Amino acid sequence: MSRKRLEGKVAIVTGGASGIGAETAKTFVENGAFVVIADINDELGHQVATSIGLDKVSYHHCDVRDEKQVEETVAFALEKYGTLDIMFSNAGIEGGMSSSILEFDLNELTTPWPLMFVDHSQLSSTLHVSWWREKSVDP
Ligand SMILES: NC(=O)c1ccc[n+]([C@@H]2O[C@H](COP(=O)([O-])OP(=O)(O)OC[C@H]3O[C@@H](n4cnc5c(N)ncnc54)[C@H](O)[C@@H]3O)[C@@H](O)[C@H]2O)c1
Repeated sequence: MSRKRLEGKVAIVTGGASGIGAETAKTFVENGAFVVIADINDELGHQVATSIGLDKVSYHHCDVRDEKQVEETVAFALEKYGTLDIMFSNAGIEGGMSSSILEFDLNELTTPWPLMFVDHSQLSSTLHVSWWREKSVDP
């Protein structure tokens, strides 16, 4: 990736307080982006934001299983940076599926395994609606 490829872009990185998310936040900033780290680990999230640089990174508490918190995080990014260009839906917890994909029960969506799925769907839809609201156009 060429340097500064994300110059001026604004990103939300869920699960950005550690691991892949934290490295992603760092890489995005190195490439010119502003990042909102959204996570449930507040202490680590603040630490990571501070270590990368508070001029470029903000931390916002967000449990991606809670639609209201996702909406608030999107609103926070729009309020702080004026736009939102990238979502990196990464928050999740490792865990095995309890059954075959063919027998998978959607009611299991509240358990840790499908967290990434919930994250993708909620953040995508929230972002979509917020974006078009911002543009004053029907989605
Ligand atoms: N590391 C791997 O080899 C690997 C392989 C396959 C998939 N994944 C997936 O990639 C993602 C990142 O993996 P990682 O190794 O960096 O994990 P990690 O545990 O280091 O980081 C996950 C982050 O997600 C946060 N998080 C957990 N639940 C959350 C919630 N409800 N709302 C918001 N944040 C929440 C945690 O606090 C943590 O900061 C995870 O979804 C993981 O399941 C990782």
